[in-house]
Amino acid sequence: MAITGGKPLNGEIVVRGAKNAVAKEMVAALLTKESCLLKNVSDVQDTEIVASMIRAMGGEVLRQENGTLEIKSANLHAVHYRELKHIAGKSRIPILFAGPLLARFHEAMLPELGGCGIGERPIDFHLDALQKMGATIEMIPKGVHLKAKKLIGAKIHLQFSSVGATEQVLLAGVLAEGVTTLTNAAIEPEILDLISVLQKMGAIISVDIDRTITITGVKELKAYEHSAIPDRNETVSWACAAAATDGKIKVKNARQADIMTFLSTFRLVGGEFEVEDDGITFLRGQSGLKPITIETGVHPGFMTDWQQPMTILLTQANGTSIIHETVYEERFGYVHALNEMGAKIELHTECLGGKICRYSQEGYEHSAIITGPTPLHAAKITVPDLRAGFSYVVAALVAQGTSTIGNIGLISRGYENFMEKLKSLGAEVGEWRGVFIPAETEIL
Ligand code: EPU
Repeated sequence: MAITGGKPLNGEIVVRGAKNAVAKEMVAALLTKESCLLKNVSDVQDTEIVASMIRAMGGEVLRQENGTLEIKSANLHAVHYRELKHIAGKSRIPILFAGPLLARFHEAMLPELGGCGIGERPIDFHLDALQKMGATIEMIPKGVHLKAKKLIGAKIHLQFSSVGATEQVLLAGVLAEGVTTLTNAAIEPEILDLISVLQKMGAIISVDIDRTITITGVKELKAYEHSAIPDRNETVSWACAAAATDGKIKVKNARQADIMTFLSTFRLVGGEFEVEDDGITFLRGQSGLKPITIETGVHPGFMTDWQQPMTILLTQANGTSIIHETVYEERFGYVHALNEMGAKIELHTECLGGKICRYSQEGYEHSAIITGPTPLHAAKITVPDLRAGFSYVVAALVAQGTSTIGNIGLISRGYENFMEKLKSLGAEVGEWRGVFIPAETEIL
């Protein structure tokens, strides 16, 4: 993809269902033999990966024109992980199939996981929870083999409020025998949306103010019909793109309640926004962009998925900003390419900004000092992961000259109609017809 920078993004785009809610809600549909209807589903690759796994196990996922998925799993059957080879290494969602498959077949063979390379991303919390609930686990070459005559309610504590592990316990606990208590659970809006789906299906779940989730197992669940919450990570990405390019973007369907922390931060760095019934409009304020100190964290904190677009914005702010990444140990690798484009970002292994996190003594470069404003210039860059990929595009939009960005397909894992949206906002984008040497950054 070739992008010629220097033009503001202006106009209106629509966000649909959050990829990080939709994928889990598709898995929830396997907890019943009845057909489920999931609405407001965006057309992103991650959804297709989950659909393809369901189909490989005999289920059906039918996409209707209007973004509604019908998920039928009456004929679902257990499969050997070799039959899921095409899914291996593509996504983190397969591990969440454990609960529904154990409930229905007492056995699950899951392929090896993938997802963005932003840290080690172990699954020990998932496996520990499933073991506590009575599953036996065998690590097989390139996958996991789980067995359980039945899952039994248990008391589980998470050392860190992991989104995936919380979803694992929810999907396993709803049909387990007895009560499951999960302490230090994650409570991201996507998780609350999954709980809404499970509740519609007949599950009994309560969420306490101290991050304790209690699940009272039931014997069976029924079909659901649900409209997924809009993708707040996509909203935040476009908000930062608007302010970074000094444009104005209305994100239709964006929901204020899910991004309160982002909105306050955006205002502090000099962004402006207007909330309307049908969406939120974002732009840069009259007094320019200001520096800030941010620490990423679990909800309701500043999300780790917002750190990358915010970094680009801060390269254009007037002064020195700090971002302390506390969720993933290696989520700053992407900044080297930005520095080659003219940004001034230093990485540090210490916890900067005030608080100490679990990576303080681990030697990971997880704090960044961003000095702005720095003019950016065009470069040849390769997308390393989803969120960093979007940020590279914004950097190219801010930069003078024509940048070329390789591995752009990765962005469609999580951003629907990405190219079309960019073009409709006035971005000068085209096809790159050269040959890419991966992982190379070359200044043009
Ligand atoms: N962790 C463990 N052990 C586990 C599970 C997690 O140590 O068993 C650690 C992770 O290594 C990480 C931290 O806990 O350091 C948080 O991981 P979490 O489980 O919360 O993340 P996830 O469920 O794998 C989801 C989203 C991510 C998002 C994070 C945090 C999906 C498919 N992915 O990942 O989204 O960053 O929660 O909110 O829902 C993205 O959309 O680009 C993306 C990476």
